[in-house]
Amino acid sequence: MRVGNFAGILDEDSEDFTILSSIDERRLPAHIAIIMDGNGRWAKAKGQPRIFGHREGAKSVREILDTCVRIGIKAVTLYAFSTENWKRPEDEVAGLMEMLKFYLRSELKAVHENNIRFQAIGRLEVLDKTIREELVRASELTASNSGTVLSLALNYGGRTEIRDAAAAALEEIQRDGRSVADLTESDIERHLYTSGLPEVDLLIRTSGEFRISNFLLWQLAYSEIYVTETFFPDFRRRELLSAILAFQKRNRRFGGINDQS
Ligand code: IPE
Ligand code: IPE
Ligand code: MG
Repeated sequence: MRVGNFAGILDEDSEDFTILSSIDERRLPAHIAIIMDGNGRWAKAKGQPRIFGHREGAKSVREILDTCVRIGIKAVTLYAFSTENWKRPEDEVAGLMEMLKFYLRSELKAVHENNIRFQAIGRLEVLDKTIREELVRASELTASNSGTVLSLALNYGGRTEIRDAAAAALEEIQRDGRSVADLTESDIERHLYTSGLPEVDLLIRTSGEFRISNFLLWQLAYSEIYVTETFFPDFRRRELLSAILAFQKRNRRFGGINDQS
């Protein structure tokens, strides 16, 4: 075990400590993105309504965030509601929105005390006014925090994000009197919701589905993808640490041929 590796972060008697002590603190993923999936199936397996799974999933969010803060992950992006999730039954959508409102209020103090900078990403303008107000409140309160950046993806779609960023980049180019032919990738990147955040090193999807579901299409270009069968309500500290450990065993080549990570 490395001396001083995450010293004091977890109770040495805890079962998670063994995994944590195998993690190299110098090679942590800077940015972890999570497709939080499987809440409905988790609830169904227990004979409960889907919303029960969403509520239990919120507890996973709390534990994941707490762990990321403790070990010093710079950015965490969570997929909470996609532009396609409006297709779900009205009562499920309403239940999810109610939950969101509740958690934005109840968790804000802890988020702020943990030095987390909060932002919501997605087409937020169509969300309920009270939710938008809570989102603004959370972003403003935590704006100058210097710890983990939490981006909550709400009414988020990767294609929409790229379209909007490209449109904004083109407008900017016209304003500056530059030619459209000179448009660069960084012109587009500057207008993505994740502008200024480190590259997404690790994408986690729970519930065993091998797809992206319109999440961070641009940003995932070279992310390591980790899929676990675990449903999101069961995805807690140990599962997150296992994902980070698996990430550290990957050989990232970025198109090259050497085996340096
Ligand atoms: C993920 O769990 C949460 C949201 C998409 C809001 P699901 O609700 O998709 O759960 P499953 O995939 O149906 O089990
Ligand atoms: C992706 O999960 C969206 C979120 C986790 C918010 P879905 O459950 O909506 O994805 P599909 O329908 O299985 O692709
Ligand atoms: Mg799902």
